Amino acid sequence: MSEALYPIAVEVNGAQRTSHVTARTSLVDWLREHLHLTGTHIGCEHGICGACSVMLDGEPVRSCLMYAVQADGHRIVTVEGLAHPDGRLSVLQDSFCETHGLQCGYCTPGMLIAAQALLERNPRPTEAEIRGAIGGNLCRCTGYQQIVDAIALAARRMAEGTT
Ligand code: FES
Ligand code: FES
Repeated sequence: MSEALYPIAVEVNGAQRTSHVTARTSLVDWLREHLHLTGTHIGCEHGICGACSVMLDGEPVRSCLMYAVQADGHRIVTVEGLAHPDGRLSVLQDSFCETHGLQCGYCTPGMLIAAQALLERNPRPTEAEIRGAIGGNLCRCTGYQQIVDAIALAARRMAEGTT
């Protein structure tokens, strides 16, 4: 017997997307496999690493811990949605490049989402607040300092209006 499919309508990176999904389709699988938004990474698949982070109505969530049906009627921003519409990197993304805030890049989408959510609610975070905001995201490469530097640089550049 085939599994039942449920209709969902979700705003993803500013565009309305509709789909039919099984009840057990995870949000990260829907984003990656149905929408081909593969910037959202899958690491641990049980809520520990943060690689799958996306913003749901402005708050970072683990997309491996949500079902796609739970996103019905909500607004999602993935890492692809952080860049400018013409493809230029955002100030935050560019700051990660500037400070070498990534090596293998596996954690980077989740780090960017956590940082974006922080800067939207707190444009001038302290270093402790930056560390707190990315505290649920694991990075095996950088030692974290360059990521902290990147977020601090982005906050300064945004405050100065430099892009
Ligand atoms: S893959 Fe979701 S938290 Fe690790
Ligand atoms: S840059 Fe490799 S896991 Fe963070």
